[in-house]
Amino acid sequence: MTAENQYVTIRPMKSKSIALIGFMGSGKSVASKKLEELMSMERVSTDDKIEEQQGHKIIDIFFEKGEDYFRRLEHDFIKSIAETEGLIIDCGGGVVLDPENIKVLKQYCHLIYLKASVQQIFERVKDDHHRPLMNVPDPVGQIKELLALREEMYEQAEFIIDTDGKSNDEVCQEIVRVLKNE
Ligand code: S3P
Repeated sequence: MTAENQYVTIRPMKSKSIALIGFMGSGKSVASKKLEELMSMERVSTDDKIEEQQGHKIIDIFFEKGEDYFRRLEHDFIKSIAETEGLIIDCGGGVVLDPENIKVLKQYCHLIYLKASVQQIFERVKDDHHRPLMNVPDPVGQIKELLALREEMYEQAEFIIDTDGKSNDEVCQEIVRVLKNE
């Protein structure tokens, strides 16, 4: 049975939104795009919406207004959409830093952590220079440090999907499966 067919059987009962969390480069964006297609739900990216609302790139918001300012925008946006049903929410990697975000997302959405190893993350982010927190002399050290700090926050998710060595299709099929069995 394909993931599409599996979904057809669960879609009518599952109007709760799905929020994907995980470190930068854990595959949230590609997975949310695939899930949007598979589940006929609307994808929303917190980063894209903030950029749209502010008329500036995340990297510029970080450098011009600071990380705290960005985190407030992120929090306001999460609060504004968490209760909306039928969304696939692609959350920026640092959304979990605010416990209130985790609380509200868990309350209204299926919260899914896409887990990836340091090496896998590095491979995925190394050529992308649009992430302010990765523009550092030692990106691997930075990934290790931030992941160590954030791991227990990510692990508060309802479901944890290990993404290492898996294709995006496999990750999405696993998401569909865990939601179906829930
Ligand atoms: C961040 C992750 C980014 C973006 C910002 C900060 C983080 O999103 O929100 O650069 O703190 O982990 P992605 O996880 O989509 O790259």
